[in-house]
Amino acid sequence: MDPQPEAVSKITVPLLLERKLRGEKITCLTAYDYPTARLVDEAEIDMILVGDSLAQVVLGYDSTIPVTLEEMLHHLRAVRRATRRALLIADLPYGAYHLSAEETLRASIRCLKEGGAEAVKIEGGKKRAVLVRRLVDAEIPVMGHIGLTPQSVHALGGYRVQGKTLESAMELLADAEALEDAGAFALVLEGMPRELAGIITGRLRIPTIGIGAGPNCDGQVLVVHDLLGLSFQPHAKFVRAYADLTSTLRTAFARFRDDVVASRYPNDAESYHWSASLREQFEKEVAVKNFTDEFEG
Ligand code: KIV
Repeated sequence: MDPQPEAVSKITVPLLLERKLRGEKITCLTAYDYPTARLVDEAEIDMILVGDSLAQVVLGYDSTIPVTLEEMLHHLRAVRRATRRALLIADLPYGAYHLSAEETLRASIRCLKEGGAEAVKIEGGKKRAVLVRRLVDAEIPVMGHIGLTPQSVHALGGYRVQGKTLESAMELLADAEALEDAGAFALVLEGMPRELAGIITGRLRIPTIGIGAGPNCDGQVLVVHDLLGLSFQPHAKFVRAYADLTSTLRTAFARFRDDVVASRYPNDAESYHWSASLREQFEKEVAVKNFTDEFEG
């Protein structure tokens, strides 16, 4: 019989709410593939978000707008296979929750049933409150996302920090409270002054997860490629790169190319070998064949 897998303390929605009560910080990273998700999970990061940032950091689109539900599901399934401990959250891509509540439910149910997600995330404030309630009523935990919401790039006129006027700060506070009242279990606060994020965090019972929102949130999320230094764009101010994988990979690819071109790869130790007796047999066989071919031909 296979040995039992090691017991893991699974992160759940109620556990995250308790974490907020106890004042314990919550960690979240994005992941889009099996190896990354496996390492993130083994590092005991609390939540893994299969973000629609997939569009830019993995699929090479220039915004999150084009990525489809099918593309999200493909990556979600790979991440599911790697994730044992973290709470797995699927980002609903642009267009998957904009047509009707039925469409939103269908897309979210697919994320749970086909993709193995345990929650979904949607962007937008009070205008999403009814939708959040519908999802929660269908037993689907929802994470809200307010502030700089990348799917609104065209409406916002670019990727701009939000909540920098009294009016927009009050709007965002009202958005946060509406999403909490609608039943969201957590909120991503993206691209807003730390003062505002701190006030929202203090007013809510549910945890806030910040990205570019300062240190006073209940937790932090980063796009994993930013954390790894594996991107081709200049970093936003809030990104802390914990590695420089772009240089590491560039160096590795160049060394491989140079070794092959100079016949240094593969070497003898990296090659499979015949046994001495097979070599001897083969040489005899070839010698006989050469002799026969010469004699007959
Ligand atoms: O898609 C994403 O990666 C996100 C995070 C930035 C929160 O939504």
